[in-house]
Amino acid sequence: MRVLVTGGGGYIGSVMCEMLLDQGFKVTVLDRFFFGQEALDHVKDRIRIVRDDVRWVPSSIMNGVDAVIDMAAMSNDPAGELNPQKTFEINYKGRTRIANMAKKHKVGRYVLASSCSVYGFKKEIVTEETPPNPLTAYSKANAMWERHVLPLADRNFCVTALRQSSVYGPSSRMRFDISLNAMTLKLFRGEKLQVMRDGTQKRPVIHIKDTSNAFITVLKADQDLVNGEIFNAGSNDQNLKIFDIAKLVAESNGKKFDYEWYGSPDYRSYTVSFDKIRKVLGYKTKHTPQQGAREMFKALEGGKVISDERSVTLLWYKKLYEMSDIVDNVRLKGKIL
Ligand SMILES: NC(=O)c1ccc[n+]([C@@H]2O[C@H](COP(=O)([O-])OP(=O)(O)OC[C@H]3O[C@@H](n4cnc5c(N)ncnc54)[C@H](O)[C@@H]3O)[C@@H](O)[C@H]2O)c1
Repeated sequence: MRVLVTGGGGYIGSVMCEMLLDQGFKVTVLDRFFFGQEALDHVKDRIRIVRDDVRWVPSSIMNGVDAVIDMAAMSNDPAGELNPQKTFEINYKGRTRIANMAKKHKVGRYVLASSCSVYGFKKEIVTEETPPNPLTAYSKANAMWERHVLPLADRNFCVTALRQSSVYGPSSRMRFDISLNAMTLKLFRGEKLQVMRDGTQKRPVIHIKDTSNAFITVLKADQDLVNGEIFNAGSNDQNLKIFDIAKLVAESNGKKFDYEWYGSPDYRSYTVSFDKIRKVLGYKTKHTPQQGAREMFKALEGGKVISDERSVTLLWYKKLYEMSDIVDNVRLKGKIL
């Protein structure tokens, strides 16, 4: 089966591509490579790479493709707020375009890389049935994308949305703007861990290999189980308060827990039920945040991951916007390497 991974050069994609290859899938990556292409160096000889944009890539990209994992995006809330119009253009319109092209070209499966952030703020435990409450341009685009793409599902086009938890763990396109990773970096530098006020806000978290495996589980699942369905991807025991994430990062590395507050109170908070993915697909996570924090620390110690100007997504996109890389809509020539 050939899988087209849009955004495959990103934080999750560069880990997922290797896992797909190891399980016998053929892989094509479509990416603008806003963060550079080096993240795919470890697999570049085994995949097809197309450098282009989901907003205007020619539909021939779908030739020979059996499944799409659609991940290209302005990939977090603050980056999405830099230019909400561009966020909608890419995250909603661009990816909806990919879904429509896939259906037209008789691609059998399409998986949306959505996010639990569509729940916004909820006091009760949320399930896939809970109406979304998106609070930012990023999560509004995700909710709209789900609403418009899921109805494309039919007997010949299997569509599934995976609402991912906040991801942690090492990758060759490192992101230090996600809570557990950012806190481990601070710990590694011997600095105080920064906890966003007031620390009681809850997030589900998931290891990067577990979230990648959720996509692979969907690709392998019986079509009747996943067609037109939404699944939260994560595990019930990884719904954590931000303060507790900071604490476990220090404690699991045997270090003193020293922290400072930052920011104004964060209104995004939700506790998510992951019963459906476990019951319907038998999916279970294999990694814990404690292991993830140790793994991240070791990766930093061993120089396997580095913090550079590209590893904070918001700051890097801010720079790209200033350089007009996105704003000018400069068309890149699709190139098969
Ligand atoms: N990392 C998380 O914690 C998390 C949680 C929930 C959902 N998600 C979603 O998962 C997906 C992958 O996230 P990630 O952490 O790997 O993000 P990332 O920013 O590392 O990767 C996104 C990739 O998409 C590419 N891209 C952006 N706009 C594009 C365009 N117009 N055309 C082609 N390529 C484009 C970028 O170059 C980048 O390589 C995103 O959709 C994100 O919203 C991520």
